Amino acid sequence: MKILVVGSGGREHALAWKLAQSPRVQRVYVAPGNGGTALDNRLKNFPSSDPRVLAAFVEREKIGLTVVGPDAALAGGIVDYFQSLNLRIFGPTKAAAELEWSKDFAKSFMQRHGIPTSPYKTFTDAARAHVHVDAEFAARPMMPVVVKADGLAAGKGVVVAVDADEAHRAIDRWLPADAPGARLVVEGFLEGEEASFFVICDGRTGLPFATAQDHKRLLDGDLGPNTGGMGAYSPAPVVTPDVHARVMHQIVKPTLAGMAAEGRPYTGFLYVGLMIDAQGQPRVVEFNARMGDPETQAIVLRMKSDLLPVLEGALNAKLDLVEIEWDRRTALTVVLAAGGYPDAPRKRDAIEGLPKHDDDDSVVFHAGTALVDGRIVSDGGRVLSVTALGDSVRMAQKRAYALAETISFTGMQFRRDIGWRAAARR
Ligand code: GLY
Repeated sequence: MKILVVGSGGREHALAWKLAQSPRVQRVYVAPGNGGTALDNRLKNFPSSDPRVLAAFVEREKIGLTVVGPDAALAGGIVDYFQSLNLRIFGPTKAAAELEWSKDFAKSFMQRHGIPTSPYKTFTDAARAHVHVDAEFAARPMMPVVVKADGLAAGKGVVVAVDADEAHRAIDRWLPADAPGARLVVEGFLEGEEASFFVICDGRTGLPFATAQDHKRLLDGDLGPNTGGMGAYSPAPVVTPDVHARVMHQIVKPTLAGMAAEGRPYTGFLYVGLMIDAQGQPRVVEFNARMGDPETQAIVLRMKSDLLPVLEGALNAKLDLVEIEWDRRTALTVVLAAGGYPDAPRKRDAIEGLPKHDDDDSVVFHAGTALVDGRIVSDGGRVLSVTALGDSVRMAQKRAYALAETISFTGMQFRRDIGWRAAARR
């Protein structure tokens, strides 16, 4: 079978790398792909992100399955479009992906179905939003409020405001007078430890895929600006067996039942962003309608089973018959980012020291890279995901950081403490 993976990041390189290992897969195309997917001779880039061009390519090449990585393609309705042409595609429809692309929809959905999350209010009128945050800070001065832009914002649409001024600035940014129809959500702050919980869904059944924890801030100690993610590890020890059972029972099952009941059956990867409090109670911080980046890079290294039959099980509504075997070790990924990231990443810096081939226990996945005149250069904010397995979090850290130290490019920056929470637990 030929497969197409849509996207160009580290997540898509990791999915394509994993799918290419299936004995049933002849070729994996990545559209548009990156420098790493261009170099790997089991993968081939196709230079488009346009659903019409991709569908014509799939028909021409007789590609048996398309797998969608990024949220924007899902929100744009690529799944609905491929389905209308009878092309097999893995991912949620536009209506199902609204769990990610509208924060207001996600919150009201959770409220309708009794799914644990923080209280919220949605605003289209800035004056009302300002009055609301003033009232919140007057009632609970020490408690931050969370302001979220309603639509997709590439990780830049959330502010955890510690004072009213910060909340007012976010409101002015996301509900400007010249943007009629804009919406934002103001919600209560949740205390605890965050984790990412991934589920693969077939419209009815949710099969737990993996847990992970990512590091969204740029700098060590979880300081500095928010980014798309500077590193991750899997599994996340904060998701104990008890927490896992609560997530499945209180969140995943009612979500899938609710989406089906509302005429939006959910098929695809579901990423449940959680806050877990000191009593082990999980609450939903956000839903994403896709795999995480860089969490996927760590997760695929742990996955022993072939990914293709799992995706087919979801498309055939047979996930209740699927089992996935995982490596018992921890996988950890360190993002090597461009100088100037996240505000103004440098580009076109030559990358030195990349390993010639994958090791059994470590892989360098590419994200913001391009192949130019036979050389790999940087081409985006998050450039590489250096990923390694280890018998413990500390061993995985040691292996990933040793590999990261062999790579260099001008301005390269990375966090030195990926996995610190899990390492401190042991
Ligand atoms: N790692 C965060 C995300 O994929 O949204």
